[in-house]
Amino acid sequence: MHSCNNTLYTISYIFMMATENGLQSILDDDTYFVKSFDVFMNRILETDWSPDIIAKLKPKVIQSVNEATGNALKALGVGCGSGYREDFFVSHFQPHFAEVHQCIVEPNKDLINQHKNNVLQNDMKGVIYEWHEEPVEEFIASAKEDEKYHFISAIHCLYHVQNLEEILGFLYDKLQENGILLTMLTSETGLIGRVGSIAPSQYSKLFSPSSRSILDYFRTRGISCEVYDYPIRVDVSGCFDTDPSDEASLLLDFLTHVKDFTKVPTSEMKEEVFATIREMVANSPRSDCTAEAQNTAVIVHKTGCNR
Ligand SMILES: C[S@@+](CC[C@H](N)C(=O)[O-])C[C@H]1O[C@@H](n2cnc3c(N)ncnc32)[C@H](O)[C@@H]1O
Repeated sequence: MHSCNNTLYTISYIFMMATENGLQSILDDDTYFVKSFDVFMNRILETDWSPDIIAKLKPKVIQSVNEATGNALKALGVGCGSGYREDFFVSHFQPHFAEVHQCIVEPNKDLINQHKNNVLQNDMKGVIYEWHEEPVEEFIASAKEDEKYHFISAIHCLYHVQNLEEILGFLYDKLQENGILLTMLTSETGLIGRVGSIAPSQYSKLFSPSSRSILDYFRTRGISCEVYDYPIRVDVSGCFDTDPSDEASLLLDFLTHVKDFTKVPTSEMKEEVFATIREMVANSPRSDCTAEAQNTAVIVHKTGCNR
């Protein structure tokens, strides 16, 4: 009871401080997050990394299942958003197995509902879905100890976990022998890595803004990883206008993860955000108004020498 009171006190204190400073994370409003994320996705210029990653993963995942149960694949997706990546992976694995179980963990109700609708429309035959509308921390608290997966994906979501080491330890533990874990975050020197680390994380809820921390976690434990970088560019035009459009404002919200960032009073933090974006545009080898970033995929294969 005592610790429960303390937790409630801490949560209300953080909330009070956040609203007092006028800063709120876009993650605090599910619908707003989706609007801001959609703008970001429309502003990205990237080569699609999914075909390259699936070519690397597929043989390993097939081997992992064959060595375990033989014909039933168990997959876990964390922070899946609308789930288009997970559906892409599963559609490639599915023809190789009699059964596919895909467990989805996603706290945003709008995004998980979009995913459920997509699954209905795409009629993913032979795929059995299990839905968890909750953050990964809550999923961990209720997970069965003996539940293991051949393939686990956590794409662009581990920015938001406060206890990254605990989450990575859990995901690794949840791998079947020979199972594969795929994580993706942006690199620390890219646009999102740099701008996303400027607002204090208690407001932005961006706790681990780069792939560096994932690599450090595995390497310090002697667990080898495969690492692949995929360049992306973000069109930041309109962000510097005196009166930015709603669309450009939503992009700034996504880059900082601060809701209504353009309405935040001028401060050192705000100036640093604009200075960083300007510097990145100026350093870009292109003449357009884009800033570069890097998606870094970290793949861990739980083999005999990786325990
Ligand atoms: C940038 S989006 C990425 C979505 C999707 N994986 C993709 O690549 O398109 C981040 C996702 O992480 C989810 N998320 C935020 N906090 C989370 C948490 N604590 N546990 C699991 N997912 C979380 C968000 O709801 C959102 O869907």
